[in-house]
Amino acid sequence: MTERYIAPTYKRQPLTIVKGRGMFVWDSEGRRYLDFVAGVAVCSLGHCHPEVVKAITAQAKKLMHISNLYHIQPQAELAALLAKIAPNSISKFFFCNSGAEAVEAAFKLAVKHAKKGRIITMQGSFHGRTIATVGATWKHSYREPFKALIPKVFDFVPFNDLAAVENAISEQTAAVIVEPVQGEGGVNIPSDDYLPGLRKICDENGLLLICDEVQTGLGRTGKWFACDHWNVLPDVITMAKALGGGFPIGCMGAKEEVMESFSPGDHASTFGGNPLACSAAIASVKTMQRLKLPERAAKMGRYFLKRLNELAEKHECIKEARGIGLLLGLEMKEKPIADTVVAKARERGFLINCTADKVLRFVPPLIVEPKHIDNLISELDRIIAEVKK
Ligand SMILES: Cc1ncc(COP(=O)(O)O)c(C=O)c1O
Repeated sequence: MTERYIAPTYKRQPLTIVKGRGMFVWDSEGRRYLDFVAGVAVCSLGHCHPEVVKAITAQAKKLMHISNLYHIQPQAELAALLAKIAPNSISKFFFCNSGAEAVEAAFKLAVKHAKKGRIITMQGSFHGRTIATVGATWKHSYREPFKALIPKVFDFVPFNDLAAVENAISEQTAAVIVEPVQGEGGVNIPSDDYLPGLRKICDENGLLLICDEVQTGLGRTGKWFACDHWNVLPDVITMAKALGGGFPIGCMGAKEEVMESFSPGDHASTFGGNPLACSAAIASVKTMQRLKLPERAAKMGRYFLKRLNELAEKHECIKEARGIGLLLGLEMKEKPIADTVVAKARERGFLINCTADKVLRFVPPLIVEPKHIDNLISELDRIIAEVKK
């Protein structure tokens, strides 16, 4: 059915998932899997968290959609909640439906605010698949077929290289966009002076600093936002993935004086910030607060990384284990090995994925327990030993 009716834009695993609960999902044959992908870093509370399900059900019975022609109670409530957990600089929010839309909104805001049109972006970055966001995304194969459409306003510089940013600044530069930790690019963590250095460069040159926290945001790295690890206050922040607890929602937050550059009509979204999505997000954020999930991600992440490092020491085909919180990667030396490990893990009841060609990426729900991590590590240990033979 998928091949017959769905656009061929995805390379899918041979699996149809029909049910999820907590750390587990089930396929159409009734087989259970321990999920270390979490819908690509989305289901931070695990699958179908009862609080989120309850909020969606209650709101669905009340009002699902109304449009931004009117005030929307859950939207304002969610914004007030986010203002409490976001970096101190961020106090106003625009809601949309995905990560790419959040980044698009950030670009429009930056250009309107600065009255300039160029943006510095990083090699290895991923910001989405819409025309502007794919233009700011590093991977050549994502951009090349669409280059006729892509605006030539993005200046790429190596990640974790402050001098390169300084050299790339021109009269026309409006902003610098950075993932504080690169996710799709292979779980790349910058050195400790990088984010503070970017902040300083932006201040000295009157540029906006946009932190794309679509993947890293909302507890994934062990703090509410990854930029919190370096106490850096961005001018603009983007989030999506974990925000709705599995329900689609994106958000662009900004400093008040920056957001005030937008006037009515400058940007809009029919569905953005609708009551259903916002209710899901309120329940999701409140449950994360109650369960102290950022702290939990930090603790579980330390344990997980320690166990991944044990594997890396034992198996020659592993180049490196790295990561922060529960955004972790195990870089294999060769792509075919990484692909085989993903397939074999799936056959044995574990969902993991591979990014940047050969980096096994682990982004489990933040409710993951040591026993789940231990189960995965034992299985990976066996699989890698077999694959090597
Ligand atoms: C850092 C970052 N920005 C933007 C996006 C795009 O988000 P979406 O797929 O929801 O459009 C992603 C998705 O992986 C991401 O990791």
